Amino acid sequence: MCGIVGYLGPSQNSVQIVLEGLRRLEYRGYDSAGVSFLDEHDHLQNYKKAGKLDNLKMELIGKNVIARTCIGHTRWATHGGVTDENAHPHFNETLSIIHNGIIENANEIKKELMGHGVKFKSETDSESFLELTTFELKNGKPILEAIADSFKRIHGNSAFVILYPKTGEIFAIKRGAPLVCGINEITSEALVSSDPYALAGIVHKLYFPEDEVIVHLSGANKNLVNFYELKDLKKTTRYLSKKQDMSVEVSEKGEYEHFMLKEIHEQPGLIRNLTQYYFVGEGREALEKVAHYKPDRIYLSACGTAAYAGLVIRDFLEGINRIPATVELASEFRYRDPILKSGDVGIFVSQSGETADTLAAQSLCKKAGVKTLSIVNVDGSTLYRDCDDNLLIRAGIEIGVASTKAFTQQALTGRLMSAAMAGDLKDEAKKMKLTGKFALLAERIDHLLVKSEIIKTVAEAIYNKKGFFYTGRGVYFPLALEGALKLKEIAYVHAEGYAAGELKHGPIALIDEEMVNIALVGPELFEKTVSNIQEIKARKGIIVSIGPRNNEELMGLSDYYIPLDFDGLDELSPLYVNVVNQLLAYYMAKFKGTDIDKPRNLAKSVTVE
Ligand code: M6R
Repeated sequence: MCGIVGYLGPSQNSVQIVLEGLRRLEYRGYDSAGVSFLDEHDHLQNYKKAGKLDNLKMELIGKNVIARTCIGHTRWATHGGVTDENAHPHFNETLSIIHNGIIENANEIKKELMGHGVKFKSETDSESFLELTTFELKNGKPILEAIADSFKRIHGNSAFVILYPKTGEIFAIKRGAPLVCGINEITSEALVSSDPYALAGIVHKLYFPEDEVIVHLSGANKNLVNFYELKDLKKTTRYLSKKQDMSVEVSEKGEYEHFMLKEIHEQPGLIRNLTQYYFVGEGREALEKVAHYKPDRIYLSACGTAAYAGLVIRDFLEGINRIPATVELASEFRYRDPILKSGDVGIFVSQSGETADTLAAQSLCKKAGVKTLSIVNVDGSTLYRDCDDNLLIRAGIEIGVASTKAFTQQALTGRLMSAAMAGDLKDEAKKMKLTGKFALLAERIDHLLVKSEIIKTVAEAIYNKKGFFYTGRGVYFPLALEGALKLKEIAYVHAEGYAAGELKHGPIALIDEEMVNIALVGPELFEKTVSNIQEIKARKGIIVSIGPRNNEELMGLSDYYIPLDFDGLDELSPLYVNVVNQLLAYYMAKFKGTDIDKPRNLAKSVTVE
């Protein structure tokens, strides 16, 4: 959720480096931002501000921010409102800390420390860790021991970065939350962050510490970074190291007004590249591994948009491979004691690979001896590292909080997996055929993007209506769910995705002339879906149909009609329809004037449960 960055090195520009890292991570949380740094006299300076990162930058204008050591944070509020006091870092005369996660026993710790006369300045859970560590230091413990003993006391998943002004060192530790550090041996710089993207272009080598490993950034003359076990403070190698090869350029908006629009437009190119990557490129080996899977049953588990992509994948696996598959919301699956058997396979779908609930679902399967596979975007993410096998979706960095291209790539990677499991990798003709289908999908989406004015006109006509029902049947039902989610999150209007046949079992009571039905009508179950539209029309609902072109019946029924060419797309047609939903939500949000790339209350990567 929150973005965290720490820098230690010879540059006197550390505050700017940290602010640039935070700018890249702001999509993770943007309620407030702050930095702590040691000035040229080694005095701790702190600045924090509610609101977006720009507010903090304004605050820093004209201030003397020459510093070699700095930590910074962008917040997604969990405990305590969005105020300057609750913003991170939390500091006192001894320490400054930033935190990502939740301390479940914060109240108990606070109460105990208050008994010792400690005063708290914020409503956050994070401050309890600050004061607990400070208390341990005051009791005479060395810094490493003080951090370790405090961390052992807290419950829940968290990552902390701690700046210790007395020595100018930075420490970090995590449990169930993302943390990465990186070094540049040439420039003697060491950084730590919640996301490798913040470190791209600065460091050459990345380290991903495992849970309960203390990271110590120590400065130029010693090792740049050291790792210690929480349990005994002995040096450890419990981390994964890897070359930093991420580029930063890809994250600019270019000619587009929003990242979301740019990411929608990237889809045709990404779709074309995916078959290349898996059939002739580097991805071959990973897909060949999956071809040997012979599961009795498949559990797909994910959250939000990724769970809806999971539903599309389920339809491929059941429809094409005839393997029983279910989609489980990770936040429920992890607690409902599911019956897992060794012949099952768990598939975890995620853009970030850091979603707390999805990680917990994976861990549950692993503990039960079930093989785990990720369908994931971020190479090297926690999910990627924890799963037995991985299929990368190759979407490139997704900045818009509303997931678009990741959905498409997740579903299509699932289609390639289903082809591999059906034995199609051994058959050149079948591979060619599927490559052709992907290319056709890309071409159709290209056409759609050129004609997006039609969608914009519809958006302008309906964006102020009271509520929206997205309906679909069969393979279009997941798109109804995903379409409604997209609209809710970026346009802030109430929308629901419904199976078209279910509306009359209750929700139809809501239909009147202010309610819009976005009807997703594919060639499959066409007549039945049209009957459902009739039922809404009879109750004066506004009908927006997204369906086969040149269909007089549908056109006659609809107040607004977005005609599509389904020919030849077959099982990939849901992905085509979904792009219409993405554009419709985008334009409605634009007419509403919302913050499309950073919608209120949301964060890109949900690392708390
Ligand atoms: O990174 P993940 O794919 O695991 O994230 C899962 C959801 O948090 C995510 O899809 C969320 O629903 C999006 N904001 C939807 O656009």
